[in-house]
Amino acid sequence: MTASGDGTTATAGAVAVAGFYGRYAALYDAIATLPGVARWRAAAADSLALSPGDHVVEMGCGSGANLPHLADRVGPEGHVLGVDLTPELLAVARDRTANLPQVSLARGDATHPPVATGDVDAVLGTFVTGMFRDPAAVVTAWCHLVGGDGRIALMDLSASGHPVGRLLNPPFRAFTAASAPAAGPADVLRGFLPGAAAEDVLATRVDAGREALVARTRDRTFETFALGFCGLLSGRVAGE
Ligand SMILES: C[S@@+](CC[C@H](N)C(=O)[O-])C[C@H]1O[C@@H](n2cnc3c(N)ncnc32)[C@H](O)[C@@H]1O
Repeated sequence: MTASGDGTTATAGAVAVAGFYGRYAALYDAIATLPGVARWRAAAADSLALSPGDHVVEMGCGSGANLPHLADRVGPEGHVLGVDLTPELLAVARDRTANLPQVSLARGDATHPPVATGDVDAVLGTFVTGMFRDPAAVVTAWCHLVGGDGRIALMDLSASGHPVGRLLNPPFRAFTAASAPAAGPADVLRGFLPGAAAEDVLATRVDAGREALVARTRDRTFETFALGFCGLLSGRVAGE
């Protein structure tokens, strides 16, 4: 599995994302590695049903919190490629995986993956689907990348449908608005207003990504964590 070029695009969106996460790289890594989150990450790696020797790509790998889980499952004869736009987060990921020779990292745009079709057994994207303008197109492209029988898993935060979680949706929406690259104070307040659910861009994007995965896969599993705020959907790509 080879990364072709650095794959970066210089769109305004890509520059804004990299600038935002670059500024808060240390804080992001602290949140990404909170003790309870490790269990979700292990579940995401497990959902890909990886075997020793497999080649897996993580799109939007951030500071690399999933990478040791993936490396453990593919073993030293496998390969894990982490792709991300943000150099500062890739630097943290590089430190985290320094003793894992089966892991490599590439600066690139997950919407135009710097990987050749057919080279990949599985794709993982965690907490990244909501960042794409057209998540369905991106997830469809990832399914094409892994091809028939390949595995794909998406783990995302989104407003909860759980009876208790639903009560916490307004502060959740405010928190996720505040942590988005283009957020302003008005976006944070909007999370508490009537109609917030209808304007919930994160939920709309996460749902669109999940629907695209459902349309192209079989043998799916879905599990939730944290009162339904975190959902993990995985499947095996149906014959292409
Ligand atoms: C919320 S963080 C999640 C990071 C990591 N997946 C995790 O679970 O901790 C979103 C990540 O997506 C990356 N990202 C956003 N848009 C991207 C794109 N088009 N291509 C590659 N990476 C992207 C950001 O740089 C950031 O590292």
